[in-house]
Amino acid sequence: MSARFARVRAFAKINLSLKVLYKRPDNYHELRTVFQTVGLHDTIGIEYENSRRTELLLEGGGDVPDNLILRAARSFLDSARTTARIRFRLQKRIPMGGGLGGGSSDAAAVLLALPVLSGKPFKELALAAATLGSDVPFFLHGGTALGVSRGEEVYPLPEPPRSPVLIVTPSVHVSTPEAYRSLGRCLTSPDFSNRINIFQSFVWRESSVSATENDFEGAVFGQYPELRRWLRRLEASGARPARMSGSGSSLFGIYSSRDELRRALPLFPQEKLRVFSTTLVSRRAYRAAWWRSLQEHIDGLTWPPRSRYLR
Ligand code: C5P
Repeated sequence: MSARFARVRAFAKINLSLKVLYKRPDNYHELRTVFQTVGLHDTIGIEYENSRRTELLLEGGGDVPDNLILRAARSFLDSARTTARIRFRLQKRIPMGGGLGGGSSDAAAVLLALPVLSGKPFKELALAAATLGSDVPFFLHGGTALGVSRGEEVYPLPEPPRSPVLIVTPSVHVSTPEAYRSLGRCLTSPDFSNRINIFQSFVWRESSVSATENDFEGAVFGQYPELRRWLRRLEASGARPARMSGSGSSLFGIYSSRDELRRALPLFPQEKLRVFSTTLVSRRAYRAAWWRSLQEHIDGLTWPPRSRYLR
């Protein structure tokens, strides 16, 4: 077999809503969140070649020693009981550690692409994703989805309109474990409040979208007041909802039209923060992007994508 090549997109996510209920015996926190993919993406070039010895190369991954792309590749090769020479070229656009799930999405992209390029099925796909990180399983689906448990249990929700979204990332690094710790006693008690029901019935209506929340905002804004100022600015420019994503530092605002977003842009100067003007990506559009980038290697339009090299 000669080398097979694909260039895939790893889309970012925002949390339309994020409620942290309580700390569990395993030290993770029990969550209710609404995940949403957006058009901002990393690009990963993947070259796959059979080889007797496994050799993994990553270009453009920075100096992260335990990169999730390489861990995802190893978990696939172990599960498929195979060896290969794989070269990854990562073009990073999603800010790292900004609450946009960039590393998790890169990992999920590798988990989706390698079975297709190798022609070997990935039987433990969902389990491998959850082992790599709480946000990784969501990226096996994309679109709008409810995340429960530590976020790894994912249920599809009704598709969003293709609304324009503005994402701004101030150059502040928020540590996720610290953000969880700082929630401390502000957590909802284990006997769930009624407000949590909104997550079961999340629909794209003004009433539910404006009722979104993010439990990290209080603690994180207390530590970094500038984040609250940027959020207020998104709200003042007409974004509904405007929220922080994950544990920050990215903030997003959804607009009712591209014109409205365009008018808001001058309020967010690129010298002060990273600014991404994009749209929400539905599950349908997410799958279509995957089918397009793997088209020469897949057999039909199935989900997850099925390899044409399966034997
Ligand atoms: O699962 P992941 O490796 O992405 O989680 C990173 C860290 O975030 C965990 O080590 C934990 O401190 C915290 N976390 C949590 N509860 C969750 C998800 C993450 O406490 N549901």
